[in-house]
Amino acid sequence: MYFQRKFERGFGTFPLKGNELCRALETALEVGYRAIDTAQFYDNEQDIGNTISSCNIPRDELFLTSKVPIDKFSAELFRPSVEQSLEKLQVNQLDVLLLHWPPADGNIDAALELLLEVQQAGLCRHIGVSNFTGAMLKRCKALTDSPIVTNQVEFHPLLNQDNLLKASAETGIPLASYCSVARGKVFDIPLLKKLAADYDVTVGQIVLRWILQKGVSVNAMSTNPENIRANFDILSFTLSAVDISRIDSLTHQNYRIVDKQLVPWAPVWD
Ligand SMILES: NC(=O)c1ccc[n+]([C@@H]2O[C@H](COP(=O)([O-])OP(=O)(O)OC[C@H]3O[C@@H](n4cnc5c(N)ncnc54)[C@H](OP(=O)(O)O)[C@@H]3O)[C@@H](O)[C@H]2O)c1
Repeated sequence: MYFQRKFERGFGTFPLKGNELCRALETALEVGYRAIDTAQFYDNEQDIGNTISSCNIPRDELFLTSKVPIDKFSAELFRPSVEQSLEKLQVNQLDVLLLHWPPADGNIDAALELLLEVQQAGLCRHIGVSNFTGAMLKRCKALTDSPIVTNQVEFHPLLNQDNLLKASAETGIPLASYCSVARGKVFDIPLLKKLAADYDVTVGQIVLRWILQKGVSVNAMSTNPENIRANFDILSFTLSAVDISRIDSLTHQNYRIVDKQLVPWAPVWD
């Protein structure tokens, strides 16, 4: 499996910046997070670079993901934007570089070519995508033999992503989550509260553990030290198959946060 166990729990950093970001990230690194998720759009790569430079963790223990926004998908802008990310993060290479969104017209071919070029030039070890549909994953596979190591998408118990899971299994392109606790919406769900009591953990831990057991890597963001610690501590219990399927039943409500209203260039989702 591509993602080592220690990297399957990523610390999300949107929309954090400045001192708030530095404090949260320092706590995350203290509790054991090593995978950090950022993006050029988040405008926090410099703060992340400053924090990781001062924390004395060897570079090869960290796993840095950044993303190129669609307005940089041109031959003139793509590579310089990645060089700027490296400069701000104060590293020579990203662990994974993602296309943050598919281009608005849905034609991914040219953007994928630009991504492959910066990988060949050594600016990133691995490449991936974000917010791609199943059809786009299949197109990626047709265009390149290079492994696409992740498709980062909205993934939580209130959203049905069965079609995307199927496309992920068919293409071998793994999923990673964002909005993993549905930006707080999961905390009032009675079934999740009951399961938290049954397993003697928190609702957040139930949700993040469910995501991992769906075969999806987790990205979670928090500024609260208690939540940061709990969100990382999700390997010490296992949800039963029955409880997984009970949580699966919540996905039927299909509550999506990142929709066309929020992001007008979002694709037509699966
Ligand atoms: N690829 C993309 O297009 C995309 C889009 C959105 C996000 N992302 C990435 O995914 C990461 C995660 O997504 P997200 O931050 O949007 O949503 P999220 O993780 O679902 O929600 C974050 C919010 O949930 C709260 N929270 C987190 N853990 C909690 C816990 N255990 N108990 C109570 N509240 C908790 C946090 O508040 P507190 O600070 O009070 O804990 C924070 O306000 C982002 O930071 C970003 O790196 C990527």
